[in-house]
Amino acid sequence: MTPLNVVVLAAGHGKRMYSNLPKVLHKLAGKPLLQHVIDNANALNPSTLCVVYGHGGDAVPNAFPECAAIWVKQEPQLGTGHAVMQTVPRLDQDGLTLILYGDVPLTQTATLQRLIDAASQGNLAVLTIELADPTGYGRIVRDAKGNITGIVEHKDATSAQHAIREVNTGIMAVPTKQLTRWLSRLRNDNAQKEYYLTDIIAMAVSENLPITAVHPDGEWETLGINSKVQLAELERTHQTNIAKALLEQGVTLADPARIDVRGTLICGKDVFIDINCVFEGNVTLGDNVTVGAGCVIKNVSIAKDTQIAPYSVMEEAIVGADCRVGPYARLRPGTKLADGAHVGNFVELKNSELGRGSKANHLAYVGDATVGSNVNIGAGTITCNYDGANKYRTIIEDDVFIGSDTQLVAPVTVRKGATLGAGTTLTKDAPAGELTISRTKQITIPGWKRPVKTNKK
Ligand code: UD1
Ligand code: MG
Repeated sequence: MTPLNVVVLAAGHGKRMYSNLPKVLHKLAGKPLLQHVIDNANALNPSTLCVVYGHGGDAVPNAFPECAAIWVKQEPQLGTGHAVMQTVPRLDQDGLTLILYGDVPLTQTATLQRLIDAASQGNLAVLTIELADPTGYGRIVRDAKGNITGIVEHKDATSAQHAIREVNTGIMAVPTKQLTRWLSRLRNDNAQKEYYLTDIIAMAVSENLPITAVHPDGEWETLGINSKVQLAELERTHQTNIAKALLEQGVTLADPARIDVRGTLICGKDVFIDINCVFEGNVTLGDNVTVGAGCVIKNVSIAKDTQIAPYSVMEEAIVGADCRVGPYARLRPGTKLADGAHVGNFVELKNSELGRGSKANHLAYVGDATVGSNVNIGAGTITCNYDGANKYRTIIEDDVFIGSDTQLVAPVTVRKGATLGAGTTLTKDAPAGELTISRTKQITIPGWKRPVKTNKK
């Protein structure tokens, strides 16, 4: 395989975002723009990945501590050609160099692969597109036979050239040796006093190298972000694409315009998702799972036949088959529900396992607890897992019944089949099969009278 360099240009300003955050760190679908581009690049298995940064300074590379890219600083920023020049010493001189923009997040791998293939004969390939309104873009100039002869920037174009609707998306694949040679010949005698990468097109033409134009499947693949308006629009486009793909797989969406997937959502057969749900990270929904309105679900797997009622929030949890969760349930990291478990309204679980068929249906906090199977946790039950300094576990064995408004002061164990009376504050282990209760004896004071308001004169 010929080596592939990918160069990502991300040094530009992003003034129109009106933000202190560097433009490429703004998020689309929960992921920084530049991370999308790095992921797109890595999908092509490049031998070298260079990211050119500048504006925003080290905040940009610092935001990607796990990225194996070579970070090249461009200072000052003297144009796209100047940006690529900074990477030349780092490029593998054999093979091709693919140029991407750090603020164009959604280019599909298949499109980039077509561009690379189109440049594999030692020629140059440019991703171009026809726009209804090409204002601001570099125009693709062709001769009478339709061959590309150059790219002219909007600000340098004649009025006749302004009429050209085919534009440079900025994404191109170039043989690296020639790229290196051409970059060294770039000049900045143009309207913007910049070193234009696009000038290499005319240089290639003068050396009789053919230029191939490749087109994306959709315009959205080439859209760059310059403002919050464009960011919001591209987010919607991306979410619409995801919703459509889910529908095509057979998922039922109450409204494809009201779902947000910020990561990967994998669905089995006959899944139903009601409106306004947000899925983050990696979420898996098994066959026949239903998700009610307004749920926020992050890094969770939910097995088949489980129903999540509206407004439940769950993160880093594993939910078994045939469970009932919510409405208004909160599953925090480390929650594991075995098959058939029920978690009802205003119940919070953290770092806890709920065994097969066990239920916590109303108003409870179950933290750092191991709960066996067929346990009933009454309304208002709380595991007191934290003494202000350390956390302790509560163990509740199978077939336990915990009466309402019980506090379990951890570390504590409730043995198999035990019953705790309502209102118990459990500070010692409860033995198996017995009723344990801590409650002041109920008394009635005969003849007691309510105080009455004294009349002040
Ligand atoms: C560029 C193209 C234009 C194309 C348009 C597509 C050139 C000369 N022009 O124009 O033909 O139609 O993109 O959007 O290439 N950047 C740097 N360092 C710099 C300058 C830019 O890293 O010194 C980066 C920016 O961060 C951005 C990309 O390069 O990601 C494009 O820069 P931008 O200023 O938007 O170029 P345009 O003038 O829009
Ligand atoms: Mg631009």
